Amino acid sequence: MSIDWTSSHAPALAGEIAVPGDKSISHRAIMLAALAEGCSRIDGFLEGEDTRATARIFADLGVRIETPNASRRIVHGVGLHGLRGAARPLDCGNSGTCMRLLCGVLAGQAFDSTLVGDESLSRRPMRRVTEPLAAMGARIDSGEGGVPPLRIAGGHRLRGIDYITPVASAQVKSAVLLAGLQADGETEVREAHPTRDYTERMLAAFGWPIAFEPGRARLAGGHRLRATDVVVPADFSSAAFFLVAASIVPGSRLLLRAVGLNPRRTGLLQALRLMGADIREHAPRELGGEPVADLEVRHARLRGIDVPVELVPDMIDEFPALFVAAAVADGITRVRGAAELRVKESDRIAVMAAGLRRLGIPVEETPDGASITGGRLAGGEVDSAGDHRIAMSFAVAGAVAAGPVRIGDCANVATSFPGFVDLARAIGMAVAEG
Ligand code: S3P
Repeated sequence: MSIDWTSSHAPALAGEIAVPGDKSISHRAIMLAALAEGCSRIDGFLEGEDTRATARIFADLGVRIETPNASRRIVHGVGLHGLRGAARPLDCGNSGTCMRLLCGVLAGQAFDSTLVGDESLSRRPMRRVTEPLAAMGARIDSGEGGVPPLRIAGGHRLRGIDYITPVASAQVKSAVLLAGLQADGETEVREAHPTRDYTERMLAAFGWPIAFEPGRARLAGGHRLRATDVVVPADFSSAAFFLVAASIVPGSRLLLRAVGLNPRRTGLLQALRLMGADIREHAPRELGGEPVADLEVRHARLRGIDVPVELVPDMIDEFPALFVAAAVADGITRVRGAAELRVKESDRIAVMAAGLRRLGIPVEETPDGASITGGRLAGGEVDSAGDHRIAMSFAVAGAVAAGPVRIGDCANVATSFPGFVDLARAIGMAVAEG
């Protein structure tokens, strides 16, 4: 079902809010808890369609998962070899993380599996995981051009690999490491640009011996995962929309509670500060082994920057929001080294550029980025291309645009941020369905 939004001019934004749990951590928590021996409790689980798809798939694979209340799961782990094959294809919905990490989990199992996804996921590149897994001995067939559906043939013995990732991708790294759990010998992954290390941290928390540092992780097969409880911090990527919104709406002051600040996720914080944003961290602490803090953000005048290329992997999901900040900043913001944006839930460079142009902002596209000349956003109609982060970014744009911004195809916001509209309204944004 298609849902459109209209986002209109907002007065100063104000309030104290908590955004939902981290998507990356929620996926991994279900997966590792399912593969562990014993019963694990997950608190702060993201009730999004993506992470629910992962939970549903493990239920299909024979894992008992209870939901005593929202944002909590009790997972009765079956051990590394306790999954059983599902009779039907496993539906990953819109979620690249679900599909790519599952490839790693299922490549070494005794049974066959088929992974399918929605229209967007069915266009996304999977060779980046099927190739290294094939080098480990897995047998995975894909659709033409290396896209889903993926058919994983069970019963193939895996061997460890020393793999240098050709793209900065935590999903690829994680798929290889998860396959490495069931492989003979050592598996090592090296990356030129370090990516989020949640899989490594969580494997250690579940008792699997692993050595890791930024850009490198190494483990050996033949151990066991032991159940443990996981506390999921608030998702920085969801907080990002409100960080930008309060930065650009005059007179705003917001407090975002207990936001996850893993250094591999917070590139946007650095980029916004380089642009002149006023964002302060209060009460830094640890939650579930992750650094968190309350973020206080106030309106500030922003200026365009050349986004440092070394920040790109640390803010890869935040570019749609950054593009909106750039659209109202003084001067030009240049992004490069971000070709990966073209293979996300949509081609985020093309879709953001098209939308911003419709709102009167000059944007020049390059193969790996864009130049955005800040100005005055006009009202108008834009298409999110079914991409959750683009829908939410244009909702933020509407708060400062001269007229209402009508955003097409917003239903997929439920994949990562159910309740976005209610929270946005609670702080004073004027977002309405229809
Ligand atoms: C994710 C890794 C990133 C990110 C995605 C979540 C993860 O994807 O964009 O939203 O949980 O590992 P890539 O691995 O494709 O960079």
